[in-house]
Amino acid sequence: MQILSLLAILCLLTTIKAACELVNGACPSACNLVQGECVSLSCFDFTAKLGDSQTNPFKGTTAYVDGTVDLNITITYTDPKFTDTTLKGITKEENTESCLSLKLYNYQDSSKLVRTQSSYKINNINDGSSTRAYQFTIPSKDFVKQLQISDNGTSFIFHGYYSLDFSIGSSLQRVLYFDFLAGIERTSTNNLDTSFGSLSSKVQLDCQGSCQTTATSTLQFCADKACTQVTDKADLYLNDEIWLKHTLTKSGTEVYYLTNPEIYFTGDKLFKKATIQQSKLNQQGYSLYLIKVEIAWRSVTIVAKATLSSTAGSTRILDEQSRLLQQNSQQTQGLTSEVDCVKDKDSNECIDCDESLPVDNYNDPQEDGCPTGSNSYLIFLSMILVALFI
Ligand SMILES: *[C@@H]1O[C@H](CO)[C@@H](O)[C@H](O)[C@H]1NC(C)=O
Ligand SMILES: *[C@@H]1O[C@H](CO)[C@@H](O)[C@H](O)[C@H]1NC(C)=O
Repeated sequence: MQILSLLAILCLLTTIKAACELVNGACPSACNLVQGECVSLSCFDFTAKLGDSQTNPFKGTTAYVDGTVDLNITITYTDPKFTDTTLKGITKEENTESCLSLKLYNYQDSSKLVRTQSSYKINNINDGSSTRAYQFTIPSKDFVKQLQISDNGTSFIFHGYYSLDFSIGSSLQRVLYFDFLAGIERTSTNNLDTSFGSLSSKVQLDCQGSCQTTATSTLQFCADKACTQVTDKADLYLNDEIWLKHTLTKSGTEVYYLTNPEIYFTGDKLFKKATIQQSKLNQQGYSLYLIKVEIAWRSVTIVAKATLSSTAGSTRILDEQSRLLQQNSQQTQGLTSEVDCVKDKDSNECIDCDESLPVDNYNDPQEDGCPTGSNSYLIFLSMILVALFI
């Protein structure tokens, strides 16, 4: 009996949920047709909270997650309906009654033309007050991959360009563009500095009609110098020299050359630029790079960034007919799979670095391969000794 009534309730719930769906091109009477989507009558209560051309209810903040170098990005808004359980929140994740879905996108740069949907989970912060928020975390191991890196002489500056898209079905209602900066001292991950940049709200995408997806590529380990064979997994030994193959994988990009490569060792708190000792860039569709495994760390990924070019050995990109590359500079990045650790060649054991220490991502690592600990103290001491003997 109980099971039957439970089933009945379940059936009822499904019918209520399915209530606002297009049937033969028409909406049930208790629903509204909005840009080809059938939505509940209360849908406008949710879209109204997105603001209009005069008011933008959203604000952003950034902070480092306590005790880490991971970035916490929070977008807050004030919800006038926060006490009403049927109308609180904006998105379906906050309130199943809502008609709005939310997606996070990552942009290649400030031109906001090339974008990829982000896989970061958006957390809804709701402490029962009128202030609600969307929050996501970018772990430091992803900085090189997700953010634009530059260097101001003392710090690395990571610039992030993202958007939150609010949509009804496939119909975009609002896009919130925002950007932020994360500064990290080059020689120590102790000194951190972050600020939220701008936030703007639009009804259309900046790249309306011409939005592009990122040119994808893979980064694999070569078995030998000629790279006749590649593997996705490899053991990394400190000071070994290895060849990597960077291959364009997006359909239609096979004809392009990869130029201006930059390679990084990334991991938690780690963004160490690798020295490219040799490279072979003159083939369409792929490049080969020789690097030295100059650093030890756990859970390391090697990232290669390069610019696509229609001519070999040049960064100039001709105006292609192809829509794939009409951008002035389309970038790509390939990642190796995550390597558990860098090993010592003699012992064949993982090198253990104290990863709780601040990381020097700029100077050469210590003799044991670890980028932690301070060289400067030794340099200072030897300078004193030298001074004493002169
Ligand atoms: C991120 O920042 C927000 C707002 O300051 C805070 O409520 C939240 O707890 C933080 N989350 C993490 C993971 O640090
Ligand atoms: C470089 O950036 C850091 C972090 O934002 C800042 O503290 C420092 O003053 C900047 N240095 C220069 C030379 O601009």
